[in-house]
Amino acid sequence: MSTPPSAHALPVLLLLAGAVMASAENNKYCHPSDKAALLAIKSAFRNQSHFASWTPSTPCCEWHDATCNDAGRVISLIFFVDVNLTGTIPDAISGLTELLVLNLYYLPAISGPIPKGIAKLSNLTSLSISLTAVSGPIPSFLGALTKLRELTLSSNFLSGAIPASLGGLRYFDSVDLRNNSLTGTIPPLFSNSKSPDITYLGLSHNHLSGSIPAEFAAVGFVQVDLSHNALIGDASVFFGRTKELQSIDLSHNALSFDLSSVEFPEEMQAMDASHNAIRGGIPAQVANVTNLRQFNVSYNKLCGQVPAALARLDVYSFRHNKCLCGAPLPDPCKK
Ligand SMILES: *[C@@H]1O[C@H](CO)[C@@H](O)[C@H](O)[C@H]1NC(C)=O
Ligand SMILES: *[C@@H]1O[C@H](CO)[C@@H](O)[C@H](O)[C@H]1NC(C)=O
Ligand SMILES: *[C@@H]1O[C@H](CO)[C@@H](O)[C@H](O)[C@H]1NC(C)=O
Ligand SMILES: *[C@@H]1O[C@H](CO)[C@@H](O)[C@H](O)[C@H]1NC(C)=O
Ligand SMILES: *[C@@H]1O[C@H](CO)[C@@H](O)[C@H](O)[C@H]1NC(C)=O
Ligand SMILES: *[C@@H]1O[C@H](CO)[C@@H](O)[C@H](O)[C@H]1NC(C)=O
Repeated sequence: MSTPPSAHALPVLLLLAGAVMASAENNKYCHPSDKAALLAIKSAFRNQSHFASWTPSTPCCEWHDATCNDAGRVISLIFFVDVNLTGTIPDAISGLTELLVLNLYYLPAISGPIPKGIAKLSNLTSLSISLTAVSGPIPSFLGALTKLRELTLSSNFLSGAIPASLGGLRYFDSVDLRNNSLTGTIPPLFSNSKSPDITYLGLSHNHLSGSIPAEFAAVGFVQVDLSHNALIGDASVFFGRTKELQSIDLSHNALSFDLSSVEFPEEMQAMDASHNAIRGGIPAQVANVTNLRQFNVSYNKLCGQVPAALARLDVYSFRHNKCLCGAPLPDPCKK
């Protein structure tokens, strides 16, 4: 399983570090709506010792986990690694109306659904709930968060379909729903997005089925992980010589298409398409992909000669195909 795009985390942390310094100076005051919402969260998470700094005598902008802007409004709330926090995300989180970033990371005892109140956080640009016991569906009301750029709901117990409403979001550029129990087909995410070419899509380790949306041909994906699902049909929409795609994992699906007519993106560094039913041959144009470090097409139905440019790779990248031949495989190609 590939790692999440850590490049996303750093700018957010730097932004927050700046905001923390500003808040210490400027916020002697705490907006009543923010304070009420934070106290509801404290109570819903069972008033644990975690909340020791959340006292009535200090302004809520000085409470641990919360960060304010210069106007004294809470703009980010980040709970990071705490096995002791139990309970559910309260609907009253809706009171944090200026929130830009909500991040719940590795809180394995936080359970229950994603509350409706989140739909009221209309300034939210980044919503991340990861490694928790949160369950139920991915609500379609998340499509109302019109400023959302990044949605991370990986490693929870979410089920049901990915709501089509997410396809309408204009600034969407990162969707990570890996490692849940999602079913149904992939909707045409990003089809309304005005974001530049930096799109990340992670849907691996779910139970998604059906084919890959044709609309993905117009999206500037940089990193894609659809591995370990039950996807069928054609994945060639992700490819094309001039695309910005750097890494793609399509492994462990039931994809079947002809690889011969694909042109690999020249920026591509890694491709795992193992354990599918891909046919045809490996295009010679792969020789022009100069930074390729991983290329795995094992367990497919490919035929023909492995291009000489790939002879340096491990034999396990090519094994278990219909009739691939030539180095690094031991089978010589018939003249
Ligand atoms: C947390 O504390 C508040 C205020 O003291 C109280 O009203 C609430 O019932 C407490 N919640 C839990 C789960 O103990
Ligand atoms: C969790 O609770 C235990 C027992 O109260 C405590 O020793 C530990 O420090 C707590 N851990 C965190 C991360 O707060
Ligand atoms: C939140 O959104 C409102 C309305 O769109 C806007 O006036 C306000 O400036 C935003 N707040 C922040 C912190 O961006
Ligand atoms: C998948 O999610 C479960 C539940 O949160 C978690 O325990 C597990 O570590 C996750 N697996 C990976 C590879 O992240
Ligand atoms: C590699 O790229 C060059 C320049 O774009 C092109 O002329 C050549 O045909 C390409 N080679 C293959 C094998 O596609
Ligand atoms: C390619 O994928 C197969 C099947 O998942 C795996 O056994 C093999 O180790 C991979 N090859 C390389 C070089 O990583």
